[in-house]
Amino acid sequence: MLQDTFGRRFYYLRLSVTDVCNFRCTYCLPDGYQGRPEDAFLSPAELEKTAQAFARMGTQKIRLTGGEPSLRRDLPEIIDRINRIDGIQTLALTTNGYKLPQRIQEWARAGLSQLNVSIDSLDAHQFQQITGHDRLDEVLEGIEIAQSLGLKVKVNSVLMKGVNDDLSSILAWLKQTPVTLRYIEVMETADQQVFFREHHVSGGEVKERLLADGWQAVLRDVAAGPAQEFWHPHYEGRIGLIMPYSKDFCASCNRLRVSSLGKLHLCLFAEHGIDIRPYLQPSVPIDDLIHAVTNHVQGKSAAHSLQNHISGAMANLSQIGG
Ligand code: 5AD
Ligand code: SF4
Repeated sequence: MLQDTFGRRFYYLRLSVTDVCNFRCTYCLPDGYQGRPEDAFLSPAELEKTAQAFARMGTQKIRLTGGEPSLRRDLPEIIDRINRIDGIQTLALTTNGYKLPQRIQEWARAGLSQLNVSIDSLDAHQFQQITGHDRLDEVLEGIEIAQSLGLKVKVNSVLMKGVNDDLSSILAWLKQTPVTLRYIEVMETADQQVFFREHHVSGGEVKERLLADGWQAVLRDVAAGPAQEFWHPHYEGRIGLIMPYSKDFCASCNRLRVSSLGKLHLCLFAEHGIDIRPYLQPSVPIDDLIHAVTNHVQGKSAAHSLQNHISGAMANLSQIGG
């Protein structure tokens, strides 16, 4: 089992399939995607080989991320190939929900088991102001279809002071909607330092409020990642908090990342990715790839330095998929 020098085990791989995104979220790509053309990204065969190697090292869950993964026309093929790999029990996808109602059936058929959708506001106008797209209803419809197809659905909301930190509409929604909504503290990246300063608010404040309102912490599994989850007897939905600025956040890290250009990122905020693309070529034995990853993982540091405003190599999270 893949393990680092601090005894952390990596059950979970976040595999980015593209950097391109069609949304302009204020905390991520306020001016839209500005990068290079799409054909440089890992091919389905390269993605499959990556997933195979990680599965052989004990990875049980793979999340496809971006950018926006659905912008790849070959996404169903990628899902299908990874879904067939022995040892991968959960295949998840993070999406902004664009055209979700039209696409979700095909993804489900190809073997997708879990879907994370970003919704930062349940107010249609505010949703449009944040993302640049007036598509809240479409996203909500897509979520209902995904649930009716048996997929597990989680909703991600970036918690922003003065924007969506009044929880009332979210709480009303979670009363009758069986989803887990995760508030993610906005993280500082090189592209949006001013935004961060203006809008960062600690998830700890939300936690206090939830506990005061009768929400209870869900007992955590040993293999659980850094999110803290809460449930309430009067609510169908749950709330999770992802607080990267909290103490010991990194101690339960169970994930590694591979970017859409084939760089292994030991941490979202590491200074450099390690190029594993040469090992993804068909002529290179998979054992060489496994060996390289196993060695590199020994260099994973204990924790990020976000509290010192060191956000690493990434200009924004579309480059590595959050
Ligand atoms: N801080 C926190 N989360 C972010 N995301 C993107 N940028 C940031 C940021 N600066 C996450 C959001 C979004 C997902 C695609 O990436 O959760 O829903
Ligand atoms: Fe696109 Fe996600 Fe970034 Fe929004 S947060 S711009 S949906 S990559």
